[in-house]
Amino acid sequence: MTLTTGQPGAQQARPRLSIIVPTYKEVESLPHLIDRVAKVRDQYGLDIDMLIMDDDSRDGSVELIAARPESWVRLIVRTADRGLSAAVLDGLRLAEGDVLVCMDADLSHPPEALPAMLRKLQEGADFVVGSRYVEGGTTSDDWGVLRWLNSRVATLMARPLTSVRDPMAGYFALSRATYLGGRDFNPIGYKIGLELIVKCRCERVVEVPIHFEDRRFGESKLTFTQQLLYLQHLRRLYIFKFGIWSQLMQFLVVGGMGTLVNLAALTALVAVAVPVRWAVALAIWIAMTFNFVLNRRFSFSFARGGSWWSQYLRFVGASSFGAVINYALTLAILNRFPQWLPQLAALIGIIVATGVNFVASRYLVFRASHVRLERDGC
Ligand code: GDD
Ligand code: MN
Repeated sequence: MTLTTGQPGAQQARPRLSIIVPTYKEVESLPHLIDRVAKVRDQYGLDIDMLIMDDDSRDGSVELIAARPESWVRLIVRTADRGLSAAVLDGLRLAEGDVLVCMDADLSHPPEALPAMLRKLQEGADFVVGSRYVEGGTTSDDWGVLRWLNSRVATLMARPLTSVRDPMAGYFALSRATYLGGRDFNPIGYKIGLELIVKCRCERVVEVPIHFEDRRFGESKLTFTQQLLYLQHLRRLYIFKFGIWSQLMQFLVVGGMGTLVNLAALTALVAVAVPVRWAVALAIWIAMTFNFVLNRRFSFSFARGGSWWSQYLRFVGASSFGAVINYALTLAILNRFPQWLPQLAALIGIIVATGVNFVASRYLVFRASHVRLERDGC
């Protein structure tokens, strides 16, 4: 498909743009949004239609749109499966444009950036983000430190999925063909753009700088629960993109957290005067159990149906070699250097035991001869 921009007076076939706007209680913003889109539409001669996906706001939005003269604006009331991402997905399904754009209703996303975004698609981009974090992009000054930090951390966690600077953005454009190439859409929470980048396997993702304006009317619906959902959403995207490697990554994250649990438990036990050799053993056991519970819940969640006890015993069995080495080494270090902090000795024990576990697995469990046998078809 070729896309061409309608410059004023141009005779080329113009792509049709469908703008999808998810809304919940945005009656105050809608007239301003429509006015601004109408201006861009006229000025650039763009063939734009707008689909407002409203989650039954009952705030007069329906009446407002019914009374507006613009026949290219449609409002759809949704009553089932509410939520921002679900509303956008419904909109994408219903939209008929060659180019699909998603935009918030609250005027945070300037419609004036649309021609530049469309141009990037025409130049070969798979996905275009209206971005706050590329050169020229800005956010309003009154963003608190917390909101800024929150946004930055969330962005960093998405880094292995995409190198986009602003993957959290709710302002983006893609061609209908790219959208149709996607599969298994299953977003939870707010990050529908990230979902599309990953699930449509977009490679050429381009960012157009925007000024992200704070909303003037109504209020944000981004809650703490939404942020927790983001973690769950990220996990799904990692599994989709990395398959088995995502298990290893989760395993390593759990191991890292287990190390902290081990050190915290050791500190607490020593503080209540448990003898060090007992404290080291107990801390190892607590961390091992913690690792088991998290690996069962996350890294290997496909096996959650199995028996808890039998899995636990097998896990302890598999980790016991490393655990014994960890224990013996930690105590040996403390014997040799009694003035050292037990936490330091424990940390060295954990690191060496991890290395030994790895080497043992590499040369005893997954020996090269096994690989060769498999390759020979034995
Ligand atoms: N249909 C529907 N259903 N729309 C919703 C819902 C819902 O449950 N919740 C929110 N919306 C609509 C709002 O009416 C608005 O048009 C848009 O989705 C964004 O909601 P806001 O509440 O304004 O979100 P925000 O400003 O906190 O978050 C925006 O910026 C984030 C990056 O900082 C969004 O664009 C996010 O997608 C983006 O990640
Ligand atoms: Mn907003």
